[in-house]
Amino acid sequence: MSANQTTSASHNQLETKAEAWSALFEEPMSDLVKRYTSSVFFDQRMWKADITGSLAHAEMLAAQGVIGQDDYAAIQKGMAQIQSEIEAGQFEWKLDLEDVHLNIEARLTALVGDAGKRLHTGRSRNDQVATDVRLWLRDEIDLIAGLLKELQLSLVDVAGKNVDVILPGFTHLQVAQPVSFGHHMLAYVEMFKRDAERMLDVRRRVNVLPLGSAALAGTTYPLDRERVARTLGMDGVCQNSLDGVSDRDFAIEFTAAASLCMVHVSRLSEELIIWMSQNFGFIKIADRFTTGSSIMPQKKNPDVPELARGKTGRVVGHLMGLITLMKGQPLAYNKDNQEDKEPLFDTVDTLKDTLRIFAEMIGGQVNPATGAKEGGITVNAEAMRAAALKGYATATDLADYLVKKGLPFRDAHETVAHAVKLATLKGVDLTELPLAELQAFNPHIEADVFEALSLEGSLNARNTLGGTAPAQVRAQLAAHLKRLAD
Ligand code: ARG
Repeated sequence: MSANQTTSASHNQLETKAEAWSALFEEPMSDLVKRYTSSVFFDQRMWKADITGSLAHAEMLAAQGVIGQDDYAAIQKGMAQIQSEIEAGQFEWKLDLEDVHLNIEARLTALVGDAGKRLHTGRSRNDQVATDVRLWLRDEIDLIAGLLKELQLSLVDVAGKNVDVILPGFTHLQVAQPVSFGHHMLAYVEMFKRDAERMLDVRRRVNVLPLGSAALAGTTYPLDRERVARTLGMDGVCQNSLDGVSDRDFAIEFTAAASLCMVHVSRLSEELIIWMSQNFGFIKIADRFTTGSSIMPQKKNPDVPELARGKTGRVVGHLMGLITLMKGQPLAYNKDNQEDKEPLFDTVDTLKDTLRIFAEMIGGQVNPATGAKEGGITVNAEAMRAAALKGYATATDLADYLVKKGLPFRDAHETVAHAVKLATLKGVDLTELPLAELQAFNPHIEADVFEALSLEGSLNARNTLGGTAPAQVRAQLAAHLKRLAD
């Protein structure tokens, strides 16, 4: 078909994207350029947002008398048909029509004629696509917030069952002080709680309407943008048309929040991997989250946590991609922005899958017969305890004991270093040194020192707000359960 023939066909309906603009074009695009510039094979997943946005726009155009009520009715009917075609997998997506917007509009016009051609009055794909991405992302954020809640509930569940289980806490991955495993789990609950807060904060800036900005400068039609925002359940309207069509800071912000959340997942993954290695043996994760080796029959590899750790790099990469995409773009819309979608979509997919799988891997699944969760991580309390008894985890407690007997902390610290040196030489724990030998370091040491040096004594002594004493952990647990129940 020649360029001229193509142009004359546009009087009826759109067949190729060149017809979407004008008779100005003298030659068609090559197949390579079409493929390079089109987005339909990835942006079609925003079809629902596209239809919802178009219907809200059409409703407002009719209410303002810009199009007839009969046009609006025809658009509604046509969109309902398109929706069912897409849902049934019968919609024919055409590369020639570049993107989701032109594909849907062309089909609408094919179905309802002139009313379909009136839909784009007072609108541009620039404000349309910005609206679609925001609507789509808003709904995804709500799903992610729900998944973050599920993950927190799983961690709280495991924490609740393990308040009195003691493992060594580490700094520099060196045994530091004993902590409650429940306390350790609740540290991650705090992280995911902040991630959920960040998501909801980002949502406020995502849920703002660009539509009505038109191509870049606003439009000559008497649009009621507030009305469209209300119809779409949005919190406000972009106040500057140039900004509304062009900035993707909301997508960058979301990806930054997603990156942080993945970083938290990655830290947890690293711990799970360490804990389930034979040298620690602190936990097991259910077989369905591990794989064997094709050569070493004894292996059970923690594939899921390892992949989550790896996928964190992928999401952080998307953040770099998006932020670099924005840099250097002059006002207003530039086609660069079409590149926002794949990283954003992949960030959402990766984060959602990861959160879902972690909630189940940690906390297990509800057994419908009993109503209880089953199949989460298995905790080996004995292995944790044995590890906590190694490495002089309660050395600080001996120093604190001496301080309570009147020694300045720095002196106490030095005294204990000598005691640890002796115990190391003898290959025993501090609690295994006879009282007389301990007293040689400081005469104030009495028989009650052994209680202070026990794992339980060490935990119970850390009874300040946020500390690892079981009483504190139980208070935190109750607060989280109350918060998550709302
Ligand atoms: N597919 C385009 C995108 O994703 C839609 C907007 C195109 N606008 C334009 N003026 N070419 O950004």
